Amino acid sequence: MTIIFGPLSDPLTSNEWYTPAYLAHAARRTMGEIDLDPATSEFAQKTIKAKQFFTKEDNGLNRFWHGKVWLNPPYREITPWIMKLIDEYFYGRTTEAILLVNAYTESRWFQHLWQFPLCFTRGRINFYNPTKGQSGPCSSSAIAYMGPNIDRFADHFRRYGRIMVSYDGELVQSMKTKLNGKGNSRITPPKANLVVQPRSKKRVIGMGH
Ligand SMILES: C[S@@+](CC[C@H](N)C(=O)[O-])C[C@H]1O[C@@H](n2cnc3c(N)ncnc32)[C@H](O)[C@@H]1O
Repeated sequence: MTIIFGPLSDPLTSNEWYTPAYLAHAARRTMGEIDLDPATSEFAQKTIKAKQFFTKEDNGLNRFWHGKVWLNPPYREITPWIMKLIDEYFYGRTTEAILLVNAYTESRWFQHLWQFPLCFTRGRINFYNPTKGQSGPCSSSAIAYMGPNIDRFADHFRRYGRIMVSYDGELVQSMKTKLNGKGNSRITPPKANLVVQPRSKKRVIGMGH
């Protein structure tokens, strides 16, 4: 039996859908290791294998997120998780991150992700639940990468979907500036290894720690 979960599924259990091993493996290959999974359960850690993790009881939203972070956030109330990850990354505590979300490109929270390289999965991912088994969400997924190793992200995730960089995103803007500065107005498609994700210390806005 295939269970489809999403906004209308059982609110008591809809957060407990875990990442399949091949994606956790690709994340570890990209980042070298996973220092922190800030939204998880003991059970999910058999697959994610993070050095440190926070469960519901710890409340990951109230903690600092150091190092290389894997985040497959609770599907309910996703916005604070996205904003917290972006804050932690630009502040510099999170040095590299991979974020797995439903590809709800129309959502407000998704608009914050266009500034990062994204992998749009080819099909729907089969997540798993310790009691219900395998299941699929109502949509395909998107995986956002934050960090300097865009080529490695592309190498390890392109087999699962299309790697995209937003045309009007910061990465492409920085390429345009470079090209125009040399008197070359022709815009070529962005090549991941030419650009480094700009990282600056920013004030953390609106999230309590
Ligand atoms: C979609 S699952 C992902 C689990 C795991 N990170 C993975 O990738 O397989 C989200 C997890 O976040 C947990 N969670 C919910 N609220 C949380 C909170 N405030 N702090 C930490 N974890 C939380 C849920 O119990 C659930 O296990």
